Amino acid sequence: MNIRQLLSDKVQAAMLAAGIPADCGPVVAQARKAGFGDYQANGAMAAAKRMGTNPRELASQIVAKLDGGEMIEKAEIAGPGFINIHLSEKWLADNLAEAGNDPRLNIAPVESPQTVVIDYSAPNLAKEMHVGHLRSTIIGDALARLLEFQGHKVIRQNHMGDWGTQFGMLLAHLSDKLENNDAEVALADLETFYREAKIRFDEEEGFADRAREYVVKLQGGDPKCLELWQQFIDISISHSEEIYDKLNVTLTRSDVYGESQYNDDLPVLVQELLEKGIAVKNQGAVVVFLEEMADKEGNPSPMIIQKRGGGYLYATTDLAAIRYRVNKLHADRILIVVDARQSLHLQQAFTAARKAGFVDDSVTLEHCAFGTMMGDDGKPFKTRTGGTVKLAALLDEAIERAQKLVADKNPELGEEECAEIGRAVGIGAVKYADLSKTRTNDYVFNWDAMLSFEGNTAPYLQYAYTRVRSIFRRAGTNPGELSGDMILETPEERALAIKLSQFGEVLDQVARDTYPHVLCSYLYDLASAYMAFYEACPVLKEGVPEAQRNSRLQLCNLVARTIACGLDLLGIEVLEKM
Ligand code: ARG
Repeated sequence: MNIRQLLSDKVQAAMLAAGIPADCGPVVAQARKAGFGDYQANGAMAAAKRMGTNPRELASQIVAKLDGGEMIEKAEIAGPGFINIHLSEKWLADNLAEAGNDPRLNIAPVESPQTVVIDYSAPNLAKEMHVGHLRSTIIGDALARLLEFQGHKVIRQNHMGDWGTQFGMLLAHLSDKLENNDAEVALADLETFYREAKIRFDEEEGFADRAREYVVKLQGGDPKCLELWQQFIDISISHSEEIYDKLNVTLTRSDVYGESQYNDDLPVLVQELLEKGIAVKNQGAVVVFLEEMADKEGNPSPMIIQKRGGGYLYATTDLAAIRYRVNKLHADRILIVVDARQSLHLQQAFTAARKAGFVDDSVTLEHCAFGTMMGDDGKPFKTRTGGTVKLAALLDEAIERAQKLVADKNPELGEEECAEIGRAVGIGAVKYADLSKTRTNDYVFNWDAMLSFEGNTAPYLQYAYTRVRSIFRRAGTNPGELSGDMILETPEERALAIKLSQFGEVLDQVARDTYPHVLCSYLYDLASAYMAFYEACPVLKEGVPEAQRNSRLQLCNLVARTIACGLDLLGIEVLEKM
């Protein structure tokens, strides 16, 4: 259920009935201050301006035509023409009761599901996976889970960097290792492997030439060389999979569709763009000049799709990928979750793809950009010695720190239990710290902040969940057996009921705008509304009438289920105990 949408429809209908032009929107939003209703409709002001009438008068005409049905208790005019809407308590109570009986919490699947391709994670296999890929992986996976829950067909695409000139050096190094029978050992530590290959490439006489030969052979489809490459790729992918596993990320091997998959299509694509006159030869290279993205002086933005020596680029592959996703995967919507520093590149690719007719207007192309992960020193996140941070080690550290916290907090817990809780809390903390920040901003990676049990963190929410659940253990009640009417008499009960009822509209908003932090803020607010309710409204205390206890237990149960569902959509586990 999306309250905002339901109210928008009602207010829009009232506006039409009041003779307001159809393109004047109702502008419905959640009320920000207590005492001003639950929602506000602010469309009267803009409409009055357009029509040259008095906004308060227009607002009262809208209210007069407003058919509130069961939903709206009253609508009042405030200030220059705001309409404050109060929801009916009965309507709220009935909806919550329904949500309580629905495994989907009253969140109906979308009416017109789309095919959404989400391109995320995408590490470069010729390099160690770094923190930028961590961000892409975490954000992309949350979006995939959420859109899937909404009923869309989600196609995950792990656009791994598994092709390109760097592989020459790696393959030359690998073939030597194989000859010496120590390939297996060498590939176990990919980072050392890359480093060794790079040193040889820079310093060893003749090695760079061999590396270049390997590139030529690889691109020419030499079977021996391809076999070597495949071996390297398989091992690299399993290294990534270890990370996915640890992170509780839904990506699998079948989602890998790397750059190499587009290799055969690149010459075809370049030829086609030349023939269509969209690309031109320029100083030996092939370039698409994009007038659509011209600078202030009117110079078109150049996008090279074939280098002078004949080589193809990252951009060429992205054009091929867009075409594949539209034609073969039948995408209605393509999300690419990658660093904000690739904005220009993707803008060019999107513009060129449209210009070439690969994508029509029915398909959206969206760059879900994110900022850089910073260290405590405000500089891009590095190890103390300035190296790239190994993701596996980072996640292990998170788990270790969380385990220690949990053990200190609960000395009575067994070792095994502590380890399991620490794992869920540590990984949850890393993921939530990332997801809860506006993704387009840079963010500071800080252990203490992310592992805190206070504030907008995973441990806080996970702990809130266990606290709510513990009520049922104390009550000796199975939440599945709860029934009876919901009573929303106190302001805290009402506020909590409204928060709970807003879950659906928050999911819709995240699905539309692809900002997962909106869901995090919502869950945090929900937990806070629960704490306020818990303070003010006794649940199990003696003397609480049966009907009230029943209703409050149902509220508790909905809180627990909503937190669990919300965290699950973010890829974060909840625990019965911590
Ligand atoms: N492998 C690229 C990188 O590490 C990210 C790929 C993102 N997806 C894309 N279609 N360009 O920067």
